[in-house]
Amino acid sequence: MMGILIQIVFLAATAFGVINGQEGFVSIDCGMDAGGSITDNITGIVYQPDTQFIDTGINYGIPPSYWSRRYSLPQLGTLRSFPDGVRNCYTINQVNQGEKYLIRAFFMYGNYDGQDSASIGSPLQFDLHLGVNYWRTLNITDPFSFYPLEIITVAKDDYFSVCLVKTGSGTPFISSLELRLIDSVDVYTDVNQSNSLVSGFARVNVGGAPGLIRYPNDTYDRIWWSENLPNSFGINTSETIQINPGDAFQVPSTIMRSAITPVNNTSLLFSLSDFQSRYVRPICYCYMHFAEFDALPPNKTRLIDVIMNEQALLRNFRPSYLLSTHITLTFELESVTQYNISLTKAADSILPPILNALEAYTTLSLPDLASDITDVRAMMDLKNLYDIKIWQGDPCAPQNFAWKGIVCTFSASNPPRVTSLNLSSQNLNDNIPDAINNLKAIEYLDLSNNNFVGPIPDFLSGLSSLRMLNLSNNQLDGSIPMALRQKQENGLLELRTENNPGLCTNGNGCVDDHGKKKTLATAVIVIIAAILASLILLAIIVVVVRRQRMRKTPTRPCELVVKGKSLNYGYL
Ligand SMILES: *[C@@H]1O[C@H](CO)[C@@H](O)[C@H](O)[C@H]1NC(C)=O
Ligand SMILES: *[C@@H]1O[C@H](CO)[C@@H](O)[C@H](O)[C@H]1NC(C)=O
Ligand SMILES: *[C@@H]1O[C@H](CO)[C@@H](O)[C@H](O)[C@H]1NC(C)=O
Ligand SMILES: *[C@@H]1O[C@H](CO)[C@@H](O)[C@H](O)[C@H]1NC(C)=O
Ligand SMILES: *[C@@H]1O[C@H](CO)[C@@H](O)[C@H](O)[C@H]1NC(C)=O
Ligand SMILES: *[C@@H]1O[C@H](CO)[C@@H](O)[C@H](O)[C@H]1NC(C)=O
Ligand SMILES: *[C@@H]1O[C@H](CO)[C@@H](O)[C@H](O)[C@H]1NC(C)=O
Ligand SMILES: *[C@@H]1O[C@H](CO)[C@@H](O)[C@H](O)[C@H]1NC(C)=O
Ligand SMILES: *[C@@H]1O[C@H](CO)[C@@H](O)[C@H](O)[C@H]1NC(C)=O
Ligand SMILES: *[C@@H]1O[C@H](CO)[C@@H](O)[C@H](O)[C@H]1NC(C)=O
Ligand SMILES: *[C@@H]1O[C@H](CO)[C@@H](O)[C@H](O)[C@H]1NC(C)=O
Repeated sequence: MMGILIQIVFLAATAFGVINGQEGFVSIDCGMDAGGSITDNITGIVYQPDTQFIDTGINYGIPPSYWSRRYSLPQLGTLRSFPDGVRNCYTINQVNQGEKYLIRAFFMYGNYDGQDSASIGSPLQFDLHLGVNYWRTLNITDPFSFYPLEIITVAKDDYFSVCLVKTGSGTPFISSLELRLIDSVDVYTDVNQSNSLVSGFARVNVGGAPGLIRYPNDTYDRIWWSENLPNSFGINTSETIQINPGDAFQVPSTIMRSAITPVNNTSLLFSLSDFQSRYVRPICYCYMHFAEFDALPPNKTRLIDVIMNEQALLRNFRPSYLLSTHITLTFELESVTQYNISLTKAADSILPPILNALEAYTTLSLPDLASDITDVRAMMDLKNLYDIKIWQGDPCAPQNFAWKGIVCTFSASNPPRVTSLNLSSQNLNDNIPDAINNLKAIEYLDLSNNNFVGPIPDFLSGLSSLRMLNLSNNQLDGSIPMALRQKQENGLLELRTENNPGLCTNGNGCVDDHGKKKTLATAVIVIIAAILASLILLAIIVVVVRRQRMRKTPTRPCELVVKGKSLNYGYL
């Protein structure tokens, strides 16, 4: 038995706040030259290059001979292609965690590489991931068409990453990427932390003029494609359809002013199909939008029955006069691959059915968690610092795409953590980076065989899980922080520091000077030295000069010890 839920939404109770212009929009024209920008002269939306969002891939332009079906979408002229690496990711920061977003990607092949790689017989295929989760498989069979893909989802972190994943049937590419904040809790209430809605073309303005309608008419920049159903004709009104306040869906008035009605005055038929089998038990959400154009007397009714695959889901639905209302059909997709939906004139209806607009989505759950956010930030800092391009997307997940050189631990309910980082033999120089301090779950850290300089940072002792630290074969100097030394002595840390010529290693007493484990002998030596110093070095000028010298080098006491100077220097 199919689980069917049906719901009629009349006025939503809450009014809407003002939605600001392009605020909350990120519009990226992939493959555009750095520094450029392009303005859509219909929407006024400014598209920026993708250079700040990705560090891999190659830019291409589409030959004008393939532009014929590009509509008025200027962002489809260029694309970025990813011949190298299996997974390549865009990262969009400054996302409001917990808010709802529409993310839209366009793919237009246009034979950009001259390889004729997309045809019905041999489609160009690759996967799209949203963060660490599978989103959809692209199946591009027509070089002249563009393929839109949308998801309405709640931001689980303060960034989104969109990854293109090679699956063996061609080189992934992307034409544009758009992010739209949907800053109302009342719209798409079916979207929440565990439930996202995905679609391709399925948001249609029926009965309207050809072309597409989007921002600014649609505040959220949803794209409404013009489409007519078979055996129907368009009707329209010049009256304004009331959508605000109270219409949670905010379907633009211009869309609601047109509708279709059946040629034979009986039934409007459409079907939903083409569901991808990789969605596990998905649910279909079909939103139908209605508005009555005529002020009907009571005896002239328009009543609609909603029938799906010959089963009546709803009877006697009555559209409201010049006011947007909606029917939400929710049904679990089963083995049937086509759902025939019919809007039929009810038995008691005088007038035929109408339909003004239609949206259909399937649910997608994004079950896998992204890595711990502080680990992600730390790893991104390292990636940027060392410009490591093979590190793409989330550091740990999915598991088979974990970054080279790290090991993560996974648990069912907590985000993955980075527990091992191996940067051995990467020809790294400068100081040991502070970012490592944010890898709070790190257990194994191998920085050996590089050219790290400067002191061993104190923060390493604060990494409470650290069990192995290999700093050998670098140019580190200074001393080993006491706390690290103690962990090593207590058997909690395997520490390797050999072949750091400037490093003060254990056995010279340099470290012990800092701490409490001073031996009696050392103490005696110190006292004698102090007495000798106070007796012999009476010349004030000499003392002053020495003090100044000592103060100039307070952070490297061991260096002075190694040079055979007074033990006292260690305390300055
Ligand atoms: C947009 O502007 C460009 C140049 O400014 C022009 O060539 C093009 O025809 C315009 N497109 C539309 C749809 O108005
Ligand atoms: C790809 O699209 C073509 C044409 O629409 C279709 O015949 C084919 O089954 C699709 N392949 C997959 C794997 O979806
Ligand atoms: C998300 O929405 C779905 C469908 O409305 C609902 O079944 C589910 O319980 C919701 N989950 C959460 C975490 O709110
Ligand atoms: C979009 O809105 C503008 C301003 O309200 C209006 O002039 C324009 O005709 C609308 N576009 C469509 C396609 O209705
Ligand atoms: C509205 O309908 C009339 C005929 O009833 C038609 O001439 C006109 O083009 C339609 N307008 C639109 C925008 O579809
Ligand atoms: C549909 O209704 C209109 C008027 O209400 C009528 O003129 C037309 O003949 C009807 N069409 C059919 C196929 O019954
Ligand atoms: C009217 O058209 C619909 C779909 O086009 C069809 O299913 C239905 O049987 C037709 N009804 C009549 C009475 O012709
Ligand atoms: C509805 O009632 C009006 C009078 O109130 C009458 O003129 C009209 O013919 C009736 N229409 C129908 C379809 O019964
Ligand atoms: C849906 O309608 C098509 C014809 O338009 C028919 O071939 C198909 O069997 C129908 N599917 C179901 C599940 O009723
Ligand atoms: C780090 O990688 C090197 C090889 O690149 C390997 O020899 C070394 O054992 C690794 N370190 C750890 C802690 O696994
Ligand atoms: C660094 O030291 C650890 C612990 O002894 C060892 O497992 C690792 O292989 C060393 N790294 C290299 C590159 O030898």
